Amino acid sequence: MKGIVLAGGLGTRLHPLTKVTNKHLLPVYDRPMIYYPIQTLVNAGIRDILLVTGGNSAGDFLKLLGNGKEFGLQHLDYTYQEGEGGIADALRLAEHFADQGPICVVLGDNIIEGNILKAAQAFRDQKNGAKILLKEVKDPQRFGVPVLDGTKVVKIEEKPSQPRSAYAVTGIYFYDGQVFDIIKTLKPSGRGELEITDVNNAYIEAGQLTWDVLDGWWTDAGTIESLLLANQLVAQTGANKIE
Ligand code: G1P
Repeated sequence: MKGIVLAGGLGTRLHPLTKVTNKHLLPVYDRPMIYYPIQTLVNAGIRDILLVTGGNSAGDFLKLLGNGKEFGLQHLDYTYQEGEGGIADALRLAEHFADQGPICVVLGDNIIEGNILKAAQAFRDQKNGAKILLKEVKDPQRFGVPVLDGTKVVKIEEKPSQPRSAYAVTGIYFYDGQVFDIIKTLKPSGRGELEITDVNNAYIEAGQLTWDVLDGWWTDAGTIESLLLANQLVAQTGANKIE
């Protein structure tokens, strides 16, 4: 399985911090934010990693990460997202890299306490379709929120004003090779982006989406409040640690 870290976007929710730099280069405690999602993939045994970047300071990722030596990697792949077309638009750029095989996609601002080894293994066994990871949160309206019927996810609503469960869909996704065909069918949402939630809903409609609950804490770091929380959590308990 190959890994993809999505680290583009303009990070406008973090202005003025992101006026001259890319959100994923900002510090989270003792490391740049981008270190955490890369470590998440490496800890899951994934060694072939593509970084999709864009926006400000895109060249700085190469300077910072080079060939991924600090993560025990021999090389890293990079690609550049023009404009801000959303998460699914950024993922589109990974089609050639994925080469029809299974992928694990991690949003560049998602930080976890533990690891995704179990889920990665389960997806390897699943062979096709998609898998998402859910986490109970206090503010689901900020995220993609699953609507559950028993243990079945019947749909995902993106940032609903009245969330129908207490879970967020975390920014860690497993997909088979169909994902790129699904992306080609998407239409931009109200915020003008190709939504990853629409990709996941297509897999639900095809009866091909499984889910797990993520162990340990999880946070995004895309707003001032969540960036502060991410710093506090990493400072207090560390990240990518639970075995
Ligand atoms: C994105 C997704 C959302 C998901 C979240 C996880 O939101 O659209 O479904 O729950 O990442 O971090 P965004 O950060 O683009 O608002």
